[in-house]
Amino acid sequence: MHQFFRYSFIIISLVLSIQVVAQPEKNKRLICATCTINPYKYVQVKSDTFQKASVSSAHPLASLVGAAIMKQGGNAFDAAIATQLALAVVYSGAGNLGGGGFLLARTHQQQLIALDYREKAPARAHRDMYLDKDGNAIEQLSKLGHLAAGVPGTIAGIDATLPYAKLPLKILIQPAIDLAKYGFVLTEREANNLNDSRAAFEQYNTQPTAFVKPTSWKAGDTLVQPELAATLERIQRWGAKGFYEGTTADFIVAEMQRGKGIITHNDLKNYKAAVRTPLVFNYRNHTIIGFPPPSSGGILTAQMLGMLERYPLRKYGFHNVKAVQLIIEAERRAYADRAEHMGDADFYPVPTQMLIDPRYLQQRWRNYDSTKATPSNTISAGKQSTFTVSEETTHISIIDADGTMVSITTTLNGNYGSKTVVGGAGFLLNNEMDDFSVKPGVANMYGAVGGVANAIAPNKRMLSSMTPTLVLKDNQPYLVVGTPGGTTIPTSVLQTLINIIDFDMSAAEAINAPKFHHQWLPDVVYVEKNVAPSLIEHLQAMGYSITPRGNIGRTEVIRVLPYGKRETAADIRGDDSVAGF
Ligand code: DON
Repeated sequence: MHQFFRYSFIIISLVLSIQVVAQPEKNKRLICATCTINPYKYVQVKSDTFQKASVSSAHPLASLVGAAIMKQGGNAFDAAIATQLALAVVYSGAGNLGGGGFLLARTHQQQLIALDYREKAPARAHRDMYLDKDGNAIEQLSKLGHLAAGVPGTIAGIDATLPYAKLPLKILIQPAIDLAKYGFVLTEREANNLNDSRAAFEQYNTQPTAFVKPTSWKAGDTLVQPELAATLERIQRWGAKGFYEGTTADFIVAEMQRGKGIITHNDLKNYKAAVRTPLVFNYRNHTIIGFPPPSSGGILTAQMLGMLERYPLRKYGFHNVKAVQLIIEAERRAYADRAEHMGDADFYPVPTQMLIDPRYLQQRWRNYDSTKATPSNTISAGKQSTFTVSEETTHISIIDADGTMVSITTTLNGNYGSKTVVGGAGFLLNNEMDDFSVKPGVANMYGAVGGVANAIAPNKRMLSSMTPTLVLKDNQPYLVVGTPGGTTIPTSVLQTLINIIDFDMSAAEAINAPKFHHQWLPDVVYVEKNVAPSLIEHLQAMGYSITPRGNIGRTEVIRVLPYGKRETAADIRGDDSVAGF
């Protein structure tokens, strides 16, 4: 960054941080008039069983807000809106105004709803925008800074959710405004995350941000975000126009101009959420409802469960080598299809019906060998790739007293997205452009490769792995499931479903059990550190290459018990927490 900007950045950050740290006691507030949520003192609740309604999300305050809204008379959609907006304040790494997501719902009147508010490539984007003059990928460009950002979809998604809600946006957004304006205390994990990204915030911002202060963040510090509060107030007053037009849009476009980004006023004004048709399929007498393209999640889940259904996984048992090998091989084959066939169906003819057809899946399974690994290069061609770990997408599972279920996964993509905060508006921009295939065979930050189906084109949505999922049993609500984790999302959801349906685990056991992941390329099995060494040895003897890695997923699940109670669990891998009544 230019020296002048660097100094003014530090000085203004200093002023801002004094304001943050010297948060006057009188400004401290409980959240929302009729609630008693204390943002300066809260605890994580990892699992609980509620009578009527519940929320599981990545942050205790966001879950509490969602539950309080339902207690005030809101339904699951009201809670979905309020929880997402609260997460945009208290979980800056992934909760967002500057990103996008998918909402999947089943109302108590059995209506299925899939809202797609995935970011779009700006109109000035083009296929080769991240290549140098020799045609080589300049990988950093799609990952960090202004050019990495797609046109944000979250507020359009909230706008598209409102017709299903009972309370006005004015009320649903107020907790988020309070949290931004009067602050909340940071957990240790959040303080560390902010400290880890400090250098990137300094590098990719031309204006001061509330996320940087002269000294390191520590647990218990109060984070106040006045600019974000003002943006939320504009949305409160003018709805989606308070984001896509007027002052907020001006801030975004000015930010783009400072950082050589390409999002324009027209891109913002033209952004619309899309209504999709959910994918519905069966697995062992359960109805699974998944998200269609531009998510790869629903198709992958249908493919993997389709390949596995004919095997008695229950008989083999949890983390029995036979069961694990089957799951790995199903993952390998499905992910090979992801790379070749999946992208935004508005731009590319994704052969969804073929991919989930039992005859097709049988064909894919023909070279399965129960004694050894099937090398990925015999499934289809591709290039070896790298794989980085990031946690920063986030999932919310909700059920209300009537039995309406809402499953939302939302993201900035990487941790704090592009690391660029919109100057004056206080929210981070996504780096979702990296989810496109920037060049055939070049891996994105999750090691995923792709080709024509997921090539960049103006106004196209980048392929996603986000897999918000719902499950019915006897046509009654049974599970609300989802997780962050980049390409590991569909495998985490798959293993959570299998843990519950095949291995009879509780919601908490299912999400907290160690997980493993294969994504065709690179041809390795990633395992969480607590996967049993004996299982690893067995797999290695069959020819699998094993790579230990950090956490896989941060899954949030609600399971409806036989008499209607809501067993609700939040992943132990993060600050995730449940709330309900
Ligand atoms: O849409 C996707 O597939 C990715 N942008 C999700 C990123 C993610 O889950 C990051 N968290 N681990």
